[in-house]
Amino acid sequence: MSIQRIKGTQDILPDAVWPWQVLEKEIRRLCWDYGYHEIRTPVFESTSLFVRGVGATSDIVEKEMYTFEDEGKRSLTLRPEGTAPVCRAYVENKLYGLPQPQKLYYIGPMFRSENPQSMRFRQFHQFGVEVLGADEPIVDAEVIQLAAQVCQNFGVKGLETQINSLGCPECRAVHREQLLAFLEPKRVGFCELCRSRLERNPMRVLDCKNPECQRLTQGAPTTFSTLCGDCHDHFDRVQDLLQLARVDYKVNPRLVRGLDYYRKTAFEIVETSLGSQNAICGGGRYDALVEEIGGPPTPGMGFALGIERLLKILQDQQIEPDDTRAAQFVTVAALGQRAQDEAFRIVSRLRRKGIPANMDLMGRSLKSQLRTANRDGTRYAVIIGEDELVKNLVVIRDMTEGEQFEVALEDSILWIEKRLFEAN
Ligand code: HAM
Repeated sequence: MSIQRIKGTQDILPDAVWPWQVLEKEIRRLCWDYGYHEIRTPVFESTSLFVRGVGATSDIVEKEMYTFEDEGKRSLTLRPEGTAPVCRAYVENKLYGLPQPQKLYYIGPMFRSENPQSMRFRQFHQFGVEVLGADEPIVDAEVIQLAAQVCQNFGVKGLETQINSLGCPECRAVHREQLLAFLEPKRVGFCELCRSRLERNPMRVLDCKNPECQRLTQGAPTTFSTLCGDCHDHFDRVQDLLQLARVDYKVNPRLVRGLDYYRKTAFEIVETSLGSQNAICGGGRYDALVEEIGGPPTPGMGFALGIERLLKILQDQQIEPDDTRAAQFVTVAALGQRAQDEAFRIVSRLRRKGIPANMDLMGRSLKSQLRTANRDGTRYAVIIGEDELVKNLVVIRDMTEGEQFEVALEDSILWIEKRLFEAN
């Protein structure tokens, strides 16, 4: 039998890669506009980074890591998320010595050994941002605003940004006590996972998707109800700033995140049509993580957005990721050897000028070349047939408007440049 890809992984074929590229380009542009810079970290790290960083009681560390030993008997793990690696790189490369905060972003594959289901993969891609070195509420607001804008820029409908505050260790201790007092008497009714969480991390019981567990937690004390004065002020200020920036949000006092490092602000962007896997983006503040992995005390705030999940929503809502380069695409269609030489000359000159241009490489008929041009989303088709060569001109067809123009061969590049320049 032929070898097949591993369950929960995907081949992204040339036909399907275009929306990925547009999305990645839009993300990079937006990050640039917001003053974030890209960071690239290895896809594998020491296992201890995730055990200490993400937390021993998180699902990720408990059961979802791809961990293996290398020849030197070191325990290594394929990164299940990007926050701990970015913090490791921040410490190792002494980025804390540079002007703060460091506003960083990444796009790349993550690996979790999950039960593959719809929109739950074993290799998936995240766009994430991490702001390190500033604990002001305005950082939280900016990060949430950026996450919301990525989705908004594509015109996605039906999304909700939910925010909550998980408090600091002091208010969390009070919450834990009150929550345990509420949950313990109902212990037998909870699912096995929740019963085990009761000891280790009772807050996660609020997050269980099991309907019976959800029923039993109705009316449970929320983190919000036990916030200390400082955490309360921080959360209030984040909300004021979000309103100032006109970011729509809803406070969800039951929102708890699945990773252990969060403090204070936590948020998710959710979409209902994805069923139970409805979070396309999640993040929050993690003010102790850098210190936890051996760095100087450094506050942090960030999020990660699941690229597969966003692309699925775009597809479901029939939104074609748009890109101006597509509108500028030129195809030169030529018939015969001499015309092909001219076509190659034109395509080369356009490419040197940074204008995306393509031509047939296999001597196909003009009709077939124009069919391909149409399929590729060409804006201008430059047609060079035998008649045109004799008259020293080309026919330029505006594929969007359906108009056709006869242009002198020597003026063709200038004509296209002018049109594209006017259009922008
Ligand atoms: P997370 O909530 O575990 O957070 O993941 C963020 C997003 O990644 C999810 O909302 C989802 O869209 C996507 N995702 C997660 N697991 C899968 C999967 N198995 N298949 C497809 N998509 C998935 C984090 O990873 C944190 N590091 C976020 C963060 C950054 N917090 C602060 N900074």
